[in-house]
Amino acid sequence: MSPELNDLIQWAREAGSLLRQRFGGDHSIRFKGSTDIVTEADHQSEALLMERILSRFPDHTIITEESGHHNGSDEHCWYIDPIDGTINFAHGFAFFCVSIAYAEAGHLRLGVVYDPIHDELFAAESGKGAWLNGVPIQPGSAASLRECLLVSGLPHHDHSPYTDAAFACFRDLTLRSQGVRRLGSAALDLCYTACGRLDGYWEFSVQHYDIAASALIAREAGCIVTKLDGDEDILKPPVSILAGNPKVYALLRDALRQHGL
Ligand code: IPD
Ligand code: CA
Ligand code: CA
Repeated sequence: MSPELNDLIQWAREAGSLLRQRFGGDHSIRFKGSTDIVTEADHQSEALLMERILSRFPDHTIITEESGHHNGSDEHCWYIDPIDGTINFAHGFAFFCVSIAYAEAGHLRLGVVYDPIHDELFAAESGKGAWLNGVPIQPGSAASLRECLLVSGLPHHDHSPYTDAAFACFRDLTLRSQGVRRLGSAALDLCYTACGRLDGYWEFSVQHYDIAASALIAREAGCIVTKLDGDEDILKPPVSILAGNPKVYALLRDALRQHGL
């Protein structure tokens, strides 16, 4: 048995409602790394989503941020980020979401990203399109970097192999476009690119659970989405991401190539 888009929508709304109730309150924060944090709400959201999935699909594989890899059938795989944008959430900064993707035989089939504070639900089904709150979405029509508002993500520490290149690209593209935002949620960065609020997105190092749902949403909306080197197999680690309408995608690829990519 396979899930339907409405299953993901319902579960994302349930997890989002839990996050909305906890947003702005005090949190128990644990450091996973020097700046990498997890709150009690990440665990609660993840537990809810795991329970919903496993109660219907006990033999499916689930890959989650907080509790890792739950082995099941290779045919059916879920990618869950219970809060994408945990640092924003913990600071009371309203830019975070729940991200749920389902892949069948290695192909992304369903994706839902829910921003509970703005009550915005992005969804996509492979071959059928992408929607924001039920309305079809498409990327913007920018055809030059000067027309673009871009977004990226940056490492928080300087022992990443990508730190220098990521900051160099951020600087370069800031000077060549209308600006590059650093908003702190890879999933929403991609969804905002999918619906034309932003024109292009790249990030040197993300995880598959960060971008699985939103990559399907952006592709179904009409963006090209690959790793930075052009590889279309975005779920295969190490994961990086580059997205935009076809013209902006090509312009960003050229710009990133000038930095040795
Ligand atoms: C992070 C956010 C951030 C991105 C990081 C991710 P988290 O996810 O998506 O924008 O730059 O690479 O790890 O930790 O908030 O789930
Ligand atoms: Ca994430
Ligand atoms: Ca997360």
